[in-house]
Amino acid sequence: MRKCIYPGSFDPITLGHLDIIERASKLSDSLIVAVLNNSQKKSLFTTDERIDMIKHSVKGISDNIEVLAFDGLLVDFAKEQNANMIVRGLRAVTDYEYEIQLAQTNRALYDQVDTIFLTTNVKYSYLSSSIVKEIASYNGDISKFVTKYVENRIKNKFTEINGLKRL
Ligand code: PNS
Repeated sequence: MRKCIYPGSFDPITLGHLDIIERASKLSDSLIVAVLNNSQKKSLFTTDERIDMIKHSVKGISDNIEVLAFDGLLVDFAKEQNANMIVRGLRAVTDYEYEIQLAQTNRALYDQVDTIFLTTNVKYSYLSSSIVKEIASYNGDISKFVTKYVENRIKNKFTEINGLKRL
């Protein structure tokens, strides 16, 4: 049984993430998209909002995908879920140093889990959640980077934030 975890912040989920999810779901019997719930890390969306956007975005991809939150160490979550694979996307060489450190640390902490890397579709090799948020914060067009549902959620979030700033 290949049980795989795709962990991340997903703040918010982009088409690049979705491409990895689609491919990873084919490589595994069961795939958990694991959303980091970390109060120390400042995120635009709450964990519940991020999970909701992922659930909407993965509808129709495959029925072996589950979306869950985790906190603490990823390897503890992997143990708890009996997962034997972690999947991460690699966009460019700049991702490599951080990703290799993460993978090796995770394996040193728990050797029953291996990290596999999927190279991002070139279409999304420049894409990140931070870039999407930056464009949206200046009212730019993000329709090429996220699903329609996520686009609306981001627009509403910035409308909400800008409204609060005016108060
Ligand atoms: O989408 P991101 O922010 O690049 O994802 C990073 C993530 C969530 C995979 C990583 O920060 C993580 O696994 N955090 C949980 C704590 C942990 O296990 N850290 C690695 C060992 S120090």
